[in-house]
Amino acid sequence: MKPHISSNLHAQSERKQLAPKLMFFGDPHGELESVITAIERCRPEAIVLLGDIQARQLLHVELESILNLTEVWFIHGNHDTDSDADYDNLWGSKLADRNLHGRIVEIAGFKVAGLGGIFRSKIWDPRRPVEEAAFPSSDAMRRTMKREDQWRDGISRKHRSSIFPDDYQHLLRSGPADILVTHEAPAAHPHGWQALDELAETLGVQLVVHGHHHQNIDYLAEGLMTAAAPFRAFGVDMGSHLAWPLVLPEGAGSESLSQDLLDLAAQAFGEAAQAWLNRPHELLDGQTPAAFAAKGGLEKVRRMLIAIQHGGVV
Ligand SMILES: [Fe+2]
Repeated sequence: MKPHISSNLHAQSERKQLAPKLMFFGDPHGELESVITAIERCRPEAIVLLGDIQARQLLHVELESILNLTEVWFIHGNHDTDSDADYDNLWGSKLADRNLHGRIVEIAGFKVAGLGGIFRSKIWDPRRPVEEAAFPSSDAMRRTMKREDQWRDGISRKHRSSIFPDDYQHLLRSGPADILVTHEAPAAHPHGWQALDELAETLGVQLVVHGHHHQNIDYLAEGLMTAAAPFRAFGVDMGSHLAWPLVLPEGAGSESLSQDLLDLAAQAFGEAAQAWLNRPHELLDGQTPAAFAAKGGLEKVRRMLIAIQHGGVV
């Protein structure tokens, strides 16, 4: 099933006059016009480009028209090291310090963790123990190289988009976070990685968004993950985007929930209340408690929360 990622988002956003907090864009591969158009229309607080950006000129020049409309963040992808131009238009840009790779940054009220690049077995196959990696870090790799083999006094351009164990492990220890953005996919994708699920779970994120595979995938809707999974996962296609929090049906925004329900959720889940309200639940036909309550199911959600807090039949 195709997810409701982008096709109906514009219309919903315009109808509700509700700017999304965050928008995630799939691999642009140089086509930044659709990114600019979406930002002008939706006015998100911030955006994250999910790698393979390949801007045709310096990224801040390419995105100049929207830099005063939103906050731009990104992770790099494997193709961002394909050529000197791909590399320089990203890492030479004034936006280079907006790379989320290997760190967690608070963006639009969410703690967003980033892991750019891809796993390459010549560096580290994450199915194998870290000790078996060819190099623990880019610096360790550089020290083994003759000067004439180096690129700009460091490792090859290609491996600047490889994931080194130190990058991964540093991020693993940097939690908690709310959202994890990666170029590679989590394990639910046929070409995904269990190491990313472990990272997401260790960080305690409620959402994982990835690029790289040029597919829109709502893993829950497609039955590739269950509502009981510890996080919600989406893949975003080239030229598409995902808005977060998800745009709920008309009138189903959390702002329309009764204070009583919000209080009950807070009593049951503490700081995780909002995350629970926005995560699809199998007892609610896969809908989020927030959406279910707003569409007339308030009493059922109330009973669930009371049962969770005090025990009893849901
Ligand atoms: Fe890629």
